[in-house]
Amino acid sequence: MEFEQLKQTCLACQKCGLCETRTNVVFGMGNPQAEVMIIGEAPGRSEDEQGLPFVGRSGQLLDQYLRAIHLSRDKNVFITNIVKCRPPENRDPQPSEWDACIPYLREQFQIIRPKIVLCLGRIAAQRLIRPDFSVMREHGQWVEKDGVFFTATLHPAALLRSPSNKPLSYADFVAVREKIEEICTHTYD
Ligand code: URA
Ligand code: SF4
Repeated sequence: MEFEQLKQTCLACQKCGLCETRTNVVFGMGNPQAEVMIIGEAPGRSEDEQGLPFVGRSGQLLDQYLRAIHLSRDKNVFITNIVKCRPPENRDPQPSEWDACIPYLREQFQIIRPKIVLCLGRIAAQRLIRPDFSVMREHGQWVEKDGVFFTATLHPAALLRSPSNKPLSYADFVAVREKIEEICTHTYD
């Protein structure tokens, strides 16, 4: 219920200028009881049109990787973004827009209380793990904060541009599977 209220507040949000150009707010989707959260950067065109995260080409690739480690947005993960509205022309979100939007992510964390957080790409990793985090150098490493295990991998859009990096990212998903087996209680029921 609390989650539904947060969603309704977010869907009506006008806290930053992105509200003027968005079609739909992309709150996130998946199981609010999930032990695993996946965080991207910001909605793209398809996400803005449908109001759902990762439903374009990078989303299809993400779903392939998730399926490979027995995760599904219909069942045992929650997927969202740092910024909930699409930046025009897919420019990077600006720090003022992150700052306006990140309280929603913080509340999502507090309600879902994930055990594992997978950051997709630099923006999420630098915002959630460390400001100077290098995805190319440090992807797949685990950082524990207050009992929550954070890791990052290459953004699926980057993998579509540089397919030769796919094995690197796949290995990170396998590491997520192993961490789930180690610390989660109901993800693989
Ligand atoms: N890229 C992102 O970072 N998030 C989405 O939801 C879609 C593409
Ligand atoms: Fe509100 Fe976030 Fe959308 Fe800005 S990006 S209008 S803060 S929901």
